[in-house]
Amino acid sequence: MTFHLESIVRPKIYNLTPYRCARDDFTEGILLDANENANGPIPFELRDTDLNRYPDPHQIEFKTLFAHYRNSKDNTANVPDLSHKNLCLGVGSDECIDALIRACCKPAVQKIMVLPPTYSMYSVCANINDVDVVNCPLIVEDNSFQMDVKRTLETLKKDDLIRLLFITSPGNPTGKIIAIKDIIYVLEHWKNGLVVVDEAYVDFSTYFNEETKKTEYFSVAKLVTKYPNLTVLQTLSKSFGLAGIRLGVTFASEELARILNAMKAPYNISSTTSNHAIKAVQPESLRLMEDNANEVNKEKYRVLEALTALPLVDDQYVGGLDANFVMIRINKGDNELAKNVYLSLATQSKVVIRFRGNELGCQGCLRITIGTPSENDQLIAKFSETLSTLSK
Ligand SMILES: Cc1ncc(COP(=O)(O)O)c(C=O)c1O
Repeated sequence: MTFHLESIVRPKIYNLTPYRCARDDFTEGILLDANENANGPIPFELRDTDLNRYPDPHQIEFKTLFAHYRNSKDNTANVPDLSHKNLCLGVGSDECIDALIRACCKPAVQKIMVLPPTYSMYSVCANINDVDVVNCPLIVEDNSFQMDVKRTLETLKKDDLIRLLFITSPGNPTGKIIAIKDIIYVLEHWKNGLVVVDEAYVDFSTYFNEETKKTEYFSVAKLVTKYPNLTVLQTLSKSFGLAGIRLGVTFASEELARILNAMKAPYNISSTTSNHAIKAVQPESLRLMEDNANEVNKEKYRVLEALTALPLVDDQYVGGLDANFVMIRINKGDNELAKNVYLSLATQSKVVIRFRGNELGCQGCLRITIGTPSENDQLIAKFSETLSTLSK
């Protein structure tokens, strides 16, 4: 079984010639090539910046530093290193998701497959592009929220119009890493499309293994250099705390990254975004990001312990603890009470969490993002108060 990218990507996109500008060849001197405003930016406070100039369309400095970081935090053995040529950047990973769907699915013909419960933007983007969505649930009955590998492969093989399989790992709202061996099994047994692993939360799933005395990493980003049918999405919105700059990253084979780069709007990453992103991947910032993820993880256990000790909150949390949130179940799956807790917390206590009780396998569930220690203290206090008021 072999994989041919040419048969997966829509022909006009596969053969795209990227937009070129004079700045691709010349960046210095009197720049009168791009119809910018040479008098400088408005308003006045921005006069000292270069915001009157278009940003760099290629972003090689950021890509090189980020690829280098992922190479250094990897447990997958014997795989060639990533380079900047394996990356394409988007306006958040939401743009990366949309780009993959547009690249591979002919509207009203080809399809994507998702594994519910999962992040809803895959279906939203598919609908916008007039692309049908096939659902193949995760295993929810045993709270494992793992991929049902047999059923997933059977579903993929039954329908040769499916071009993309979206796997969220760690999952949202499940907070659970999908077993890497299962992802590899699917990569090795399905070559009729791309496997897209969305790793938005992966930096919260780093663990120190007490037995081996080694740190374990769960990203499969580096595997794109081995499996041309794999793409991996990451974002600076979560562990880097930079949701406002909107920067998402697609890792792909060099061949696919070239196509995605040819396809994107040339200046999709603003100079402001790029400046912040380059600072975020300097060694000192990376250490800070890791320390911060460790702090969030510690708080996660504290919040979980406090909430599951409350009456009417089930002892067993739902899903995993591999992301920056927890999911708890109210009174063995009481959707009405869970929804009331959610509404009352938001309106009376100004604490906003997320009701997830309508998601597959999540009846009665609330998803709670881990905040700062003082926000978490308030959440715990208000949650407890709200539950006791509502259950009177
Ligand atoms: C699984 C998953 N992927 C992607 C995103 C979107 O990330 P971005 O801010 O990079 O668009 C989210 C946001 O919540 C998410 O949960």
